[in-house]
Amino acid sequence: MSADVAVDFGTARTLVAVSGRGVVVDEPTIAAVDLGRNRLLAFGTDAVGLRGRCAGEVAIVRPVRHGQLADLDLTSAVAKELLRLVRTWSVGQPMVLCCVSGAATSVQRRALDRAFKEAGAGSVRFVEQQVAVALGSGLRIEEPVASMVVDVGAGMTEIGVLALGGLVTQASVPIGGGDFDEAIQRLCARDFELTIDSATAEGIKYAIGSAWVEEDDKVEVRGRDVSSGIVRSVVISRTDVADAMAPRVDHILGAVVSCITSAPPDLANDLLNRGLYLAGGGALLTGFGKRLASATGIPVHLVEDPERCAVAGAVLCMATLGHTESVSRRRW
Ligand SMILES: Nc1ncnc2c1ncn2[C@@H]1O[C@H](COP(=O)(O)OP(=O)(O)OP(=O)(O)O)[C@@H](O)[C@H]1O
Ligand SMILES: [Mg+2]
Repeated sequence: MSADVAVDFGTARTLVAVSGRGVVVDEPTIAAVDLGRNRLLAFGTDAVGLRGRCAGEVAIVRPVRHGQLADLDLTSAVAKELLRLVRTWSVGQPMVLCCVSGAATSVQRRALDRAFKEAGAGSVRFVEQQVAVALGSGLRIEEPVASMVVDVGAGMTEIGVLALGGLVTQASVPIGGGDFDEAIQRLCARDFELTIDSATAEGIKYAIGSAWVEEDDKVEVRGRDVSSGIVRSVVISRTDVADAMAPRVDHILGAVVSCITSAPPDLANDLLNRGLYLAGGGALLTGFGKRLASATGIPVHLVEDPERCAVAGAVLCMATLGHTESVSRRRW
């Protein structure tokens, strides 16, 4: 029998795990496409390697934007590539369990279903990101006690209060770490008349980005002058960066608070005791957990492996999933 395959097709990273084996693919979600022949040339690190080196008809594209499939044709080609990459561990026609955003439409689900079936999957199932994260965090969501997860990805934040095996309240906010990078790019253009690329902005975020500034710090940034195009450098402070990111951080915090306030009071009380589980690479922003705890009044636990938590949960889910149902359960 073929080993089952769990897929977390994220805005920044694509993770594929095989049952009994663990994560076997961890690649940036980037594709190199031959526009002339409408063909996928490379995916992941191989595609990143082609960036800036290919001429004319080759484009480097991101197949997932804000947690949603951006190009359905490309999805089919990427699905084929992913199943080819796991062929060593999963021969035959595997069951594929895809993590999907709580905001995924039926069109998106059908596109994933078709793409993986065309790629050779025997069946395709779905699990909502919040459910996968909760399972991957070790939460016992079948209990009548409420749990809460917040997964801050690169382009989407998935928020969920869960009890009795399903989602009680949930929200999907199209903001993540990539939007923090974009805020830093805008800051450089507006206040310093400097153009920087997204990788430089991400580097600034890693170096001094913070959602809770305790001590100021500075970093030198190189970029191109907006009008002359000449390379020059400026010094940017942690406070500048925090102020630029603040509206996006606040948007996420506001959505978490409304998810809590719209849950039944007894469940909200459980959350005070159990705490809130924070996952996703975007949650690694310095001080984010502290801001979240302060905004909600609920203790925050950063999960053990924030970026792999969802796919790990999907693997656990596959072990119990019948081959006929999707794990998309809502209560109340
Ligand atoms: N130490 C860190 N500090 C701040 N941000 C970080 C850190 N490590 C990773 N990130 C950010 O985490 C994001 C990637 O997270 P993740 O892999 O969970 O996203 P994804 O699953 O691909 O996206 P999504 O779930 O939104 O579709 C990137 O924006 C990256 O810059
Ligand atoms: Mg994700």
